[in-house]
Amino acid sequence: MKIAIYPGTFDPITYGHIDVLERALEIFDKVIVTIAHNTAKEPLFTDEERIDMVKHVIKKYGKHADAEYFNGLLVNYARKKKAIALVRGLRAVSDFEYELQMALMNRKLANDITTIFFMPHEKHTYLNSSIVREIALLDGDISSFVPAYVQKILKSKVQKLRKSKK
Ligand code: COA
Repeated sequence: MKIAIYPGTFDPITYGHIDVLERALEIFDKVIVTIAHNTAKEPLFTDEERIDMVKHVIKKYGKHADAEYFNGLLVNYARKKKAIALVRGLRAVSDFEYELQMALMNRKLANDITTIFFMPHEKHTYLNSSIVREIALLDGDISSFVPAYVQKILKSKVQKLRKSKK
């Protein structure tokens, strides 16, 4: 069975991530969407909230997709899961330098695990999680960026944040 890990912060998962996941599912038997820890980021959602949103969104892929949280070195986790690849999305040239550095570092750490890049549909090129969070915080329409469930959780988070600031 060919297993791949799709790591990221997923704060929250967007249609762009889902597009990458679906492309990976065409190649791998199973893709584990892994909420990994980026030391440079302070997520809006807790680990549990992000896992819950991902799990809800990937339900339709059945046993082919799973979601887990992992805090540690990604390649160690990939080995533990018997994964042969790490999946990442490349949206624009601006993603390239960062992704190249991560892919080469991961290869240096684990030569047996390959990073594979998928280009999401061009309609998702401008999308990232921070911009979706910002639009939600400013009461903009996020329905074309995230699934309905994520939209609901994001809206309730915004309301809670507002209440806590009063
Ligand atoms: N569609 C829409 N948005 C996308 C996207 C897509 N297809 N692909 C990436 N993005 C966005 C994300 O939403 C995110 O947006 P944000 O910065 O506004 O929140 C941004 O692009 C990149 O984030 P993401 O893909 O989640 O990656 P990341 O940089 O947050 O995560 C980890 C990097 C978690 C994979 C990396 O830090 C890691 O591997 N950590 C584990 C520890 C480790 O092993 N470190 C050594 C690595 S060499």
